[in-house]
Amino acid sequence: MTCLIAYHDGDETDERQRGWQTRLAAYLPGCQLVPLVDKAADDAEIALVWAPPAGRLAELSQLKLAVSLGQGVDHVMVPGKLPDNIPLIRIVDPDMSHALSQWVILAALDHLRDGPVYREQARKRVFAPHNQRQTRGLRLAVYGMGAIGSMIATRLADIGFQVHGWSRSERPQTSALTMHHGRKGFDNLLSNCQLHVCILPLTDETRHIFDTDAFAAMPRGAYFINGGRGAQVDESALLQAISSGHIAGATLDVFEHEPLPDNHPFWDEPRITIWPHVAAQTNPETAAQQVADAIIAVRAGQDPVNLVDRQRGY
Ligand code: GLV
Repeated sequence: MTCLIAYHDGDETDERQRGWQTRLAAYLPGCQLVPLVDKAADDAEIALVWAPPAGRLAELSQLKLAVSLGQGVDHVMVPGKLPDNIPLIRIVDPDMSHALSQWVILAALDHLRDGPVYREQARKRVFAPHNQRQTRGLRLAVYGMGAIGSMIATRLADIGFQVHGWSRSERPQTSALTMHHGRKGFDNLLSNCQLHVCILPLTDETRHIFDTDAFAAMPRGAYFINGGRGAQVDESALLQAISSGHIAGATLDVFEHEPLPDNHPFWDEPRITIWPHVAAQTNPETAAQQVADAIIAVRAGQDPVNLVDRQRGY
């Protein structure tokens, strides 16, 4: 079966494209990936993309399906990027949730166990212990309780944090987690938790949800971890909250503008740990089958799984 797939991940090397080509061909023999920006992609039926250039998808006259190369879709749902009649799916891969939960645990424990302090001491050859902080009973909020957030929250509870989950609408309570929802629940968690983990999708409602007021509402010494999207944070508000000493620091994997510009003040704030958007990388090895299934469904005139609700934004 021939199937032309336009590919774009914003990377200059084509190694990842080759990985997708090999994995997808195992399920869709004869499929062919071509760079979205090439003329050869004009007849593509499928677009497999991360942050496609504005206007390019609208030029693909045979396009039947867009696939976000990731769990988030905000990089595709920018006005002018995705024609209204084209269904969009996102990747929902337990391996990515697993990777993201490892990253959050790493960030939370690195803070709690004074990783940055001891690394700085080691640089100066200082061998000096500080009192060890415990996870037990420490209140931690996970904002975003979809498939990924729930896995993260459960694992953090397993290592002793008292975990509170927040979602837009009500979700069932579980024995290990306390659930909160809506604006009231959000405000309640801001002021009652010591660690704050953002895993939210980026929508109009979550843009700059962590602003000056949100950081001010957190208890003094609170810590912020962002594995969601950079634009959920008012970056100057976070910087100000950290510089003033109100917020102890932050670990960030995502930024309003990526790559993080050279002259961004975050680089100069030692209490901010910067990761280059690698907390969970899309892996064709584990995700190719669901992408192939979606392609097969759409070509057969059926609805694919993991279809994005364009109204809701995820
Ligand atoms: C990564 O940020 C993703 O959306 O999968």
